[in-house]
Order: sequence, then C-alpha cells, then structure tokens
Amino acid sequence: MGLDFAALVREWDGEQVVISHDSTTATWMFVCQHSSRLGPATGGTRLRVYPEPAAGLADGLRLAAAMTVKMAMAGMPLGGGKGVLAVAQLPDAATRERIIDRYADLVASLGGSYLTAPDMNTSESDMARIARRCPYVFSRSVAQGGSGNSAPATAVGVLHGIRASTQHAFGSSELSGLGILVQGLGGVGGHLAELLTEAGARVLVADVDPDRVVRAVRTLGAAPVDAADVIGTDCDVLAPCAVGGVLDAAAVDTLRCRVVAGAANNQLAEPSIARRLRDRGVLYAPDFVINAGGVLHGVGLEQLGWDDAELQRRLRGIGDTLLTIYREADDAQLSTHDTAERAARQRLGTNGADQR
Ligand SMILES: NC(=O)c1ccc[n+]([C@@H]2O[C@H](COP(=O)([O-])OP(=O)(O)OC[C@H]3O[C@@H](n4cnc5c(N)ncnc54)[C@H](O)[C@@H]3O)[C@@H](O)[C@H]2O)c1
Repeated sequence: MGLDFAALVREWDGEQVVISHDSTTATWMFVCQHSSRLGPATGGTRLRVYPEPAAGLADGLRLAAAMTVKMAMAGMPLGGGKGVLAVAQLPDAATRERIIDRYADLVASLGGSYLTAPDMNTSESDMARIARRCPYVFSRSVAQGGSGNSAPATAVGVLHGIRASTQHAFGSSELSGLGILVQGLGGVGGHLAELLTEAGARVLVADVDPDRVVRAVRTLGAAPVDAADVIGTDCDVLAPCAVGGVLDAAAVDTLRCRVVAGAANNQLAEPSIARRLRDRGVLYAPDFVINAGGVLHGVGLEQLGWDDAELQRRLRGIGDTLLTIYREADDAQLSTHDTAERAARQRLGTNGADQR
C-alpha cells in the first residue's frame, strides 16, 4: 500500500472529492470535482481494477484537473470532474448493474454539481441506467434520448487538429502524400484512419489487436506497423489514439516524426516532456485541446442545443485554437502544452496556483 487517501486529497488543488464504498460489490467510488468556476464539474466515469483503491483516487484527481483545462479551452460552460469506480475485478452483468445503480444514487445526491458521461469501461447503456435514477448524465445512446457515441466527432476534431499542425509545421494543411501513423484503431483511431485515407494521406496503422490492423490494411490499404515499433517509425505525423503516457523522455528521443497530434488523453508521461518535444523540433498538439471533440459533441448537442452544422463549426474551431497556441508558443518560446495551460488559466481567471 503506497498511496494514502488523505495525502492525495490534501495535495490536490480541486474543490471536493466524494468517496464512497459499496461493500456488497467491494467497489470504491470516487467523484472528483476539480473546478466549478465555469460551471458544474463534468467528466466521464471510468471503471477499472487498480492495484490499490488509492491508485483509483489518484487517477480521478489527475483526470478531473485535466477536464478543467479541457472544458476551459473548448469554451464550454462547465468545470472539470471525474468519476472512478475502483473494482476488485471486472464485474459480471448483475454486479455491474448493482454498481451502476449505487453510483447513480451517489451522483444524484450531489444535486447537479457533478455531471457524468462514459469513459474507460463504461458505455452508453451504463449512462442510460444511471439516467433512470439520476438526471446528471450525458451521452446515452440516441435511441435512449442522448447524443450517442462521441468517438466519430472526436476523430473529426483530431483531423482538424492534424491539418492545423501540418499547416504550422510544413506550411500546408493539405494531407495528401503525408505519412500519418495512427496508434490505436478503436472508436476514435479507426474513424480517424478512414478520414485520413479519404484526405489522401499515406496512412500507417498499429494496434495491439491484430484483427483491427488487418481490417484497416484490407479496407483502407493502410500500411501495418508493429505496435511495439510505433515510436521509432519514420512518419510525418504520429497520432496517438490508444493509451496515455506514450511520450516519455526515451520515446521523445526516439521519435522520427515532425508532429504528434492525436486523441489519447494524457499523452505526456509528465508535463516537462512537452519542453523536450519542442527542443527536438517536434510540434505537439496538446491532447486536452485536440481531443475536445467528444466534449463538444456531448455537451453541445445535449446541453447547448447545437445542431450538426454548429457542431461541425466548433470541431473546425479546434484547428483554429491550435494555430493560435502554436503561434503564441513560438512567440513566448514556451512548449505548446504550457502555452495551452496558460490560455486555460486565463479563461478560468486563475493564476494556476489553485483552480477554486
Ligand atoms: N472516445 C472519445 O470520444 C474520446 C474523447 C477524447 C479522448 N479520447 C481518448 O482517445 C483514446 C482512444 O479512445 P477510443 O474511444 O478510440 O478508445 P478504444 O478503447 O475504442 O480504442 C483504443 C484502441 O487502442 C488499442 N490499443 C491499446 N493499447 C495499445 C497500444 N499499446 N498500442 C496500440 N494500440 C493499442 C486498443 O486495442 C483499441 O483498438 C483514449 O486515450 C481516450 O481516452 C477518446
């Protein structure tokens, strides 16, 4: 047992953490409300097996803070939050229902100060179940009255982000002929690979699931790359769309691309890596800016009354935001990550010391 609940909460700069334990299912529930400066704390709920419950709390605290800057940079009238269901093992169907119901009651008890949505291992149908007992939920399926799967919109936002990034790095947003490696062919990466192929890019693909690679090779004519070789593969743009933490010091020194621009959350193993990327001449699209399409989709369609045309306009805006960040980063000789964080803090009206 390395982590301690009290120390984690004490060192956090957010507003409130609600901790609950459901003894029937041995599930720890953490609702981390980082900031309500711009609106209710909002962010998905992930269900995971952690090495210890406090690791789940640590994950939630970190992710909730990231949601605060993501919401601010996306111009949403919402703050940052995150829900974590730290389970002893992945639950069977009946246990899952029990966990979700218990969690729905917990979120309902917060009276709308936290709004939830799907995240790792939670789905549109879990959100529909939550909605039976709790109104503070996004991204049910369209049939159930929600806005449905956000992954395609996230992919569209990433495409605009890649175009902005090539515009800044190479002087053109034209993707034709550029080698673009998509790491992870799930909901976002799979759709992104299709969009990039349509745009004329030379698409390379990698996934730990070989079936997904085979499908992309067959249907898109993409070039396969071994999942273990992604970082050292020669390409123009690397689009991480799988897991977080892919950019550590060793990876940055091994990269053979000019741009990193993809959907994965928390791509930097630590914030200082952004400086290392800059020093190596690699343009990095801050993840919390380029992957905001999912938030724009869920919040825009369900809460702000946008139609599809408005959603598409906002998704294009991700590219405009990135271009501004890149220019400001160059002017200030800062990393793109630090520049985006600074812009988020300006929108939040904080100096970065505390988000409250
Ligand atoms: N879905 C959204 O709307 C959305 C929004 C914002 C950010 N994101 C982030 O984007 C990323 C992808 O999301 P998704 O919804 O497509 O997830 P997903 O689970 O549908 O797909 C992830 C894919 O990555 C593959 N993968 C896992 N580890 C890998 C590795 N080491 N190398 C290569 N492939 C690997 C998996 O096999 C899977 O195909 C995640 O980090 C997610 O947090 C998603």
